Amino acid sequence: MGAKHVELNLTVNGESVRRECDARTTLLDLLRDHLELTGTKKGCNHGQCGACTVLVDGKRVLSCLTLAGLSNGVEVTTIEGLGTETALHPVQDAFIRHDSFQCGYCTSGQIMSAIGMLAEPWASDDDEVREAMSGNICRCAAYPNIISAIQEVRKDMETEHA
Ligand code: FES
Ligand code: FES
Repeated sequence: MGAKHVELNLTVNGESVRRECDARTTLLDLLRDHLELTGTKKGCNHGQCGACTVLVDGKRVLSCLTLAGLSNGVEVTTIEGLGTETALHPVQDAFIRHDSFQCGYCTSGQIMSAIGMLAEPWASDDDEVREAMSGNICRCAAYPNIISAIQEVRKDMETEHA
């Protein structure tokens, strides 16, 4: 018996995407293998490391635990959909200035998670930010610099909205 296929219609980084794929395909594999958006990383593939974090309708999700077939009609943003080389997203810019990565493998997931977190109604002091980012593992332990980058962006956002 052949594998069941599903038809997908979604928006990825502002572009409309239509694809047919195996019903078992995850959103992570759709992004990396079908759309060649390899900025989103596959770490554990089991929902434990956060490397695969993307935004779905503005909320952070683990794409390795999300079936592509359940993503019809949604808007997905990956690291490729953020800033450009000459106009980085503020979180990308802060990560560079705060030296928030070493090998960089976790970085796209950390950045997507940070952007999602900054839109959530919690996390202000360092401990809360650490807790809010605890689903994103960094094997190089760049955590202190990740927190300081996020805190700078968070404080800038607060000043803008004051
Ligand atoms: S690859 Fe998805 S959580 Fe690790
Ligand atoms: S910078 Fe290496 S895993 Fe985070």
